[in-house]
Amino acid sequence: MGLKKLNAVLQKNLEDLRESGRDKGPEMIIEKIIKAQGDKGPRYIINGHGDKEFIKMNANSYLGMSMLPEVIEAEEKAAHKYGVGPGAVRFISGTHRPHIDLETKLAEFHGKEAAMLFSSAYVTSMGVIYPLTTKETVLISDELNHNCIIQAIRLSRPAAKYIYKHNDMTDLKAKLQEAVGQGKRCLVITDGIFSMRGDNSPFNELVPICKEFEDKFEEGVITITDDSHGVGAFGKTGRGTEEYTGAKVDILVGTLGKAFGVNGGYVVGSKTLVEYLHETAPMYIYSNPITCSEAAAALKVLQILDSDKGQKRLQHLHKMTKKFEQGIIELGYETIPGDHPVVPLMVRDTAKTTDLVNYLTENGVLATGLNFPVVPKGDEEIRFQINADHTEADIDYVLGVLKQYKNK
Ligand SMILES: Cc1ncc(COP(=O)(O)O)c(C=O)c1O
Repeated sequence: MGLKKLNAVLQKNLEDLRESGRDKGPEMIIEKIIKAQGDKGPRYIINGHGDKEFIKMNANSYLGMSMLPEVIEAEEKAAHKYGVGPGAVRFISGTHRPHIDLETKLAEFHGKEAAMLFSSAYVTSMGVIYPLTTKETVLISDELNHNCIIQAIRLSRPAAKYIYKHNDMTDLKAKLQEAVGQGKRCLVITDGIFSMRGDNSPFNELVPICKEFEDKFEEGVITITDDSHGVGAFGKTGRGTEEYTGAKVDILVGTLGKAFGVNGGYVVGSKTLVEYLHETAPMYIYSNPITCSEAAAALKVLQILDSDKGQKRLQHLHKMTKKFEQGIIELGYETIPGDHPVVPLMVRDTAKTTDLVNYLTENGVLATGLNFPVVPKGDEEIRFQINADHTEADIDYVLGVLKQYKNK
């Protein structure tokens, strides 16, 4: 009895991870956030770095909503009214007014019939794909899809599964052709925005291709996207990849924890789909929902996003994204051009990525280096993420550090 023998094995596994450079290492602890002042956006105080102030270029919180006083106030008010936890899963006694109001608003926001909340987008993808996969379902997935989709496919037991080359619509078509006759239902699954690269799935090409095959499957071809990095941050009014590409998918998974700055996940689709998932998704039935205060804060964020103030934040985000992207190109760095606030700086070498990340850290810039296996070998990069809280001066400062490094 006891963990002694298991600990020894786990210790060895950890050493293997470290030796092969695949470990994540100790996590950075944020001790304090200094609010934006003058031409400086928020600054972060990190454990182990004394009073040094950092600019954060690695947050998913693209709209910078999480520190807005009205969002914090909405969260606090709901906590006073309903308490800090839901007390039970939704079907027992955990459904409160803010959950329902948020679902109504999310469906409206995306122009779909109904919405359903989950505790995170990760479990939403699992809670959608797993219950929709029967023994006679074929799954078709982009090779760079997020880990939650990969795990959902592993958990499901489809009749067959196919992986198409990243964003390669000719390959998708070939896989659809191969899938004909293998099952009654076909689910085509893609990220909206691919978070490591900031590029988007071309829904305007993907949706018509899937429609061509609709009649070849008894239960149809269903398009599913996880647009966690797109919602709130992408498209003219922040509706995500659907808005950007001008094409609608059947089922959309989103997160409240990135651009919206709160926490939790959701799916939007038809009323029947949502009713079915309420009855069948274990990740929903057996797990608590987000708190009432999180739901109230997210509702407030959606209200702000659709107001003049929110739209200005979004426009500023897009402007700062272009400024940064243009800046690194002018400095002679390689990027993957695009309109999403993920701006990758392609280094294509593990040691050089680490060296540049360390240099940025020494100079007060937090950015994340991505190496194999998080990205394919040869695609090693530093992922910069722009935020509506970044000022022109912040972007100039980071570009200045990158310039110094280039001239080193
Ligand atoms: C496509 C995708 N889905 C889901 C997630 C996870 O979101 P959440 O934190 O809400 O689980 C991420 C986050 O990186 C993501 O990129």
